[in-house]
Amino acid sequence: MDTVLVTGGAGFIGIHTVIALLEKKYRILIIDSLINSSKKSIERLISKNLLKKESINSQIIFINGDIRDVNFLRSVFKKASKSGHIIKYVLHFAGLKSISDSILFPDEYWEVNVIGTKRLLKVMKENNCHNFVFSSSATVYSLDEKSPLKENSSLSPNNQYGYTKLAVEKFLEGLVHDQERFWRIVCLRYFNPIGAHPSGDFGESPLNTPNNLFPYLCQVASKKRKKLYIFGQNWPTSDGTCIRDYIHIMDLAEGHIAAIDYIKSGAKEPFLIINLGTGLGTSVLELVKTFENVNNLRIDYEFIERREKDKAIVYADPNFAKRILNWEAKRNIFDMCKDGWNWQKKNPDGY
Ligand code: NAD
Ligand code: UFG
Repeated sequence: MDTVLVTGGAGFIGIHTVIALLEKKYRILIIDSLINSSKKSIERLISKNLLKKESINSQIIFINGDIRDVNFLRSVFKKASKSGHIIKYVLHFAGLKSISDSILFPDEYWEVNVIGTKRLLKVMKENNCHNFVFSSSATVYSLDEKSPLKENSSLSPNNQYGYTKLAVEKFLEGLVHDQERFWRIVCLRYFNPIGAHPSGDFGESPLNTPNNLFPYLCQVASKKRKKLYIFGQNWPTSDGTCIRDYIHIMDLAEGHIAAIDYIKSGAKEPFLIINLGTGLGTSVLELVKTFENVNNLRIDYEFIERREKDKAIVYADPNFAKRILNWEAKRNIFDMCKDGWNWQKKNPDGY
């Protein structure tokens, strides 16, 4: 049983990926500072024991700590090797992700997302661990690029968050260039992950008012918020609202298993950047209508001003992922709306 270190594993994408890793029988070490999540997600995962494994308590280990703390990171690697479970792969989700906060607090974003990642890589190297999967984002693409976005489409983030992601991608590329015989690195550029685990026991659990469309929509559906505010109705799209590439969180999680498999099978390319999206665009109104129809409810919404620096149409070209990782999204927008609402209904206040 190989051991995977999952940073940020208590968070939205992390916990769903941990579920996918469990299914593939990995041993999982989670580190998280819990700055944007709760330990309850992990406690629930252990207590629910979805796969009914006797070994669940030793298969998932959680350690609370900060990726910026080199001594903490060293202790994690040391503990793992002392217990005979050397860390073989690192899935790096830990980071700050709010675009608006990144503009208000750029230092913090660079400190956590860039410096934190560099420290993690340093400690990995000290421990002879060189297999790394990084959570990047479609936000690195230029606003002027037309969708479908390919991995080689032009890059130009328009916020600090995006710059931190691009900076890490470049740092990783340089690392592989200089030390190719060691590193095997996959950067995954996520499009818009939404939805929840079909059990309804795991999902997105924002600690503050959600910035993103889907968690906001779920909270309107559960009457936590009065109405959804749709940013703009005169975009150059068929119904005037923006189009995005929504991807089911479990498809995204499985994309990480595919990335590990790629590294495991010898990683022909030591450094790769890969889009994780469906290749399909859905407008805000289409998402709202689908959510209403699938779940048999009504969403109150109102059109307001466009959001600053928004983009009309963003969706991925998913073909590289298909070809290289042998991975493609299997779930559709109906599944995303059904599973997302199931989670929200069962857990109106999160974990
Ligand atoms: P999340 O906030 O739910 O998860 C991130 C986790 O990292 C949280 O549990 C948080 O407590 C932890 N964390 C933050 N700073 C830390 C630190 N210094 N040390 C240790 N742990 C720390 O976010 P998510 O949606 O699960 O995103 C995971 C990753 O994917 C992030 O790097 C994010 O930038 C990236 N990403 C997310 C999206 C998205 O739409 N959710 C899109 C593109 C990229
Ligand atoms: N929107 C609304 N009302 C809301 C929230 C969003 O109308 O309350 C609209 C936005 O204008 C946009 C669409 O819904 O057209 C999706 O917005 P999100 O904020 O959910 O997603 P974005 O595509 O704007 O950004 C997200 C993440 C970024 C990531 C990017 C990748 O927030 O971190 O996807 O494409 F980089």
